[in-house]
Amino acid sequence: MRVEGKVIVVTGGASGIGRAMCLRFHEEGARAVAVADIDERGAREVAEATQGLAFRCDVSVESDVVALVQKTERRFGSIDLFCSNAGIAVADGPGGMAASAPNEAWQRIWEVNVMAHVYAARAVLPGMIERGWGYLLITSSAAGLLSQIGSAPYSTTKHAAIGFAESLAITHGDQGICVSVLCPQGVATAMTAGKEHSPQAGDGMLQPSDVAESVIQGLEEERFLILPHPQVLTYMQRKTSDYDRWLKGMRRFRRQFI
Ligand SMILES: NC(=O)c1ccc[n+]([C@@H]2O[C@H](COP(=O)([O-])OP(=O)(O)OC[C@H]3O[C@@H](n4cnc5c(N)ncnc54)[C@H](O)[C@@H]3O)[C@@H](O)[C@H]2O)c1
Repeated sequence: MRVEGKVIVVTGGASGIGRAMCLRFHEEGARAVAVADIDERGAREVAEATQGLAFRCDVSVESDVVALVQKTERRFGSIDLFCSNAGIAVADGPGGMAASAPNEAWQRIWEVNVMAHVYAARAVLPGMIERGWGYLLITSSAAGLLSQIGSAPYSTTKHAAIGFAESLAITHGDQGICVSVLCPQGVATAMTAGKEHSPQAGDGMLQPSDVAESVIQGLEEERFLILPHPQVLTYMQRKTSDYDRWLKGMRRFRRQFI
């Protein structure tokens, strides 16, 4: 799919990867970009730069996501591409036990990193299926394919996001629905500020604009898995070919950071 002439929604569009995608979609000639974020001011700035429309939307609240879809379609027409990109990170709790983050933190990250994708699909899919065409891009992470050292909640929810994206692709592919899942390693954004020497920076930090470039390529090829860091594919292959050896390697890697 080429983004030229398309109506596109980007959640988490006020900052980082979402912002870079909005700017790049506008450059590529998207018909309209709806910039949705809990940070309304940031969304407005990006919408001004892209001649788009800003929406204050908390993606963990289903009625906000429904309103975002309805208002975008009323203003611009059918949504071609919905980028469910907003996400948060939560570190393991004190002591670094994998189960140590408080229940409230687990619940919040589950709502933002997983349920938001379910709400987006529920809101946007019926129209897409009726038209026999539509594209969903879900931002997960390399942590969803591999793991995030120091954050069990992030690893778990990003795995779940990939599981949901697979279900979407399997269930709705024959109805003309394309699905991609974006899985970067470290990207220099607000989320990773001050973490330049952390595990996710192991292969270097990309700029958000590099990720947007990978997204454009992945969308053009209608590829399920979009990997801005190509080495992630090798790591995945190592993991699936010998899980125990991969876990041993991950424990060794973790020791470098404790
Ligand atoms: N930065 C990285 O290294 C990296 C790597 C892999 C995946 N990701 C994923 O990329 C996505 C974007 O992250 P980023 O790095 O650009 O971070 P970022 O913090 O720069 O941007 C995230 C945006 O999401 C918004 N947001 C957070 N909660 C929201 C909510 N409930 N409703 C609406 N908007 C909300 C924030 O206001 C912010 O504008 C996330 O899903 C993140 O998990 C990031």
